[in-house]
Amino acid sequence: MKITIMYGTESGESELAAEEIRDALLELHDATIVNMEDVDVDAIDVTDFHLVVCSTYGEGELPASARPFHAALSANRPDLTGLRYAVLGRGDRTYAETYSRGSEHVDELLRELGATRIGEYGREDASDWNAPDDLAAQWALSTVAAFDALVTAA
Ligand SMILES: Cc1cc2nc3c(=O)[nH]c(=O)nc-3n(C[C@H](O)[C@H](O)[C@H](O)COP(=O)(O)O)c2cc1C
Repeated sequence: MKITIMYGTESGESELAAEEIRDALLELHDATIVNMEDVDVDAIDVTDFHLVVCSTYGEGELPASARPFHAALSANRPDLTGLRYAVLGRGDRTYAETYSRGSEHVDELLRELGATRIGEYGREDASDWNAPDDLAAQWALSTVAAFDALVTAA
């Protein structure tokens, strides 16, 4: 299966999570990583399964590398019908009301443009010292398995 891991980051942690996900998936899948700021929104391959990994900054806002992506999607409004994706929102639960909200801005816009979210909405809390080190990899493996099951059943 071809999988594109797309990350939005301010201070680099989501890039590390994206690399961890790619390493976990590589044995079985053709997985590549792209920074959201480098995505041409008019050339998104809707046949790839997309894993979106995105943090939150400010007060529930997008991180720096997700802003141009979100702005270009909002302006160009490509038809993303057929695109299937999953989201791992990264944040810090001590921000309470805005916990992981940055990723939700991306999720909402992708759905508005016709894409379909698959599997469980992942959340990674930077303030949770008890969280497993490989939370992102575990989330990706179970998400891809859920997607596989959907495709097989179709
Ligand atoms: C100035 C600042 C503002 C932040 N605001 C939020 C927020 O509103 N909600 C949230 O869930 N996390 C917030 N965070 C936490 C980051 O999302 C978290 O540290 C994340 O792991 C950073 O990932 P990144 O390096 O990929 O950007 C904030 C962090 C900083 C430093």
